[in-house]
Amino acid sequence: MPDIKKIKEEHLLKLSENLNLTQINEIKSNLFGKNGIITSQFKKLGSMDENKRKVFAADLNATKNDLQNLIEKKIKDLEIKEINQKLEKEKIDITLPERPFVQGKVHPVSQVIDEISSIFSEIGFSVEEGPDIENEYNNFTALNTPDNHPARDMHDTFYLDDKKELLLRTHTSPVQIRTMLNEKPPFKIIAPGRTYRSDSDQTHAPMFHQVEGLHIDKDINMGHLKGCLDYFIREFFEIDKIKMRFRPSHFPFTEPSAEVDIGYEIKNGKIIIGEGNKWLEILGCGMVHPNVLKNVKIDSKKYQGYAFGIGIDRLAMLKYGINDLRAFFDCDYRWLNHFGFDPLDVPTNYRGLSR
Ligand code: PHE
Repeated sequence: MPDIKKIKEEHLLKLSENLNLTQINEIKSNLFGKNGIITSQFKKLGSMDENKRKVFAADLNATKNDLQNLIEKKIKDLEIKEINQKLEKEKIDITLPERPFVQGKVHPVSQVIDEISSIFSEIGFSVEEGPDIENEYNNFTALNTPDNHPARDMHDTFYLDDKKELLLRTHTSPVQIRTMLNEKPPFKIIAPGRTYRSDSDQTHAPMFHQVEGLHIDKDINMGHLKGCLDYFIREFFEIDKIKMRFRPSHFPFTEPSAEVDIGYEIKNGKIIIGEGNKWLEILGCGMVHPNVLKNVKIDSKKYQGYAFGIGIDRLAMLKYGINDLRAFFDCDYRWLNHFGFDPLDVPTNYRGLSR
């Protein structure tokens, strides 16, 4: 005769283990399924004599109930545990602050680069980029600045190797070369970025920013250059009345070359752009030298145009009334909080002064 007590003990022991839902269901069907251990015991009742049957049936029923109750309880517990885990995982903390939260400020130089890009894009310029580490050819030779040319000394170059083949670009002009070598004319691009020269004083930092401009097409002349810069300065400073003068100058890669000054005066300690009789140099420019076009395999009889290089840091200082260049690169959080811009602002030509 099967020992019901044994069956019970054996299964109580099994059920006391740490089981998952599948394992418990397996035990359940082993016991109570069609051919389950308990089910088959019930089938034997019919062939027993009455006395035995009474005792056996009572035992069997009790065992069945105990095991069944325990199994159902275990299944319920596991289901509740699963629901709680899910709730915990998917919980939303409604006490958290709203997002996106403002975490920092945009540096005035980045802000001004955005503004400049926006202004030039409105008259058809696209934005190009080049690497800070340049080769000597792109930075000098291709720009009509051969070995021993005094401009190489004037630039106080940071060379990166003894052979002087790699350097930190001294201006953004090598992006002109990269663009013209990679694509076909016409070109109408600006290239903002970092530039490096080993001089440093109150108004010069060894790392500074420029934006290069290059416009090459079939009928481009100096009038276009003047018109373009005039438009840019008006837009950038948000004034109609500007004073601008072209001073003859020299760059190996342009002919003729000029430097552009804007007129300003100081009233009550503030710089007023477009008035007075003081002049401030803000950029170099000129018509691209035929030798440069030859170096990038462009026929200078067919195509010509202008280029310019604007000092971005100085423009930012002028527009936003920042009087110490070095503060730009000190990484002082208090300074940035004061002069920085809201990162969630949509860039427009005018988001600086008129707001
Ligand atoms: N690359 C010159 C500089 O760094 C500026 C410049 C750019 C001048 C383009 C003429 C044309 O000073």
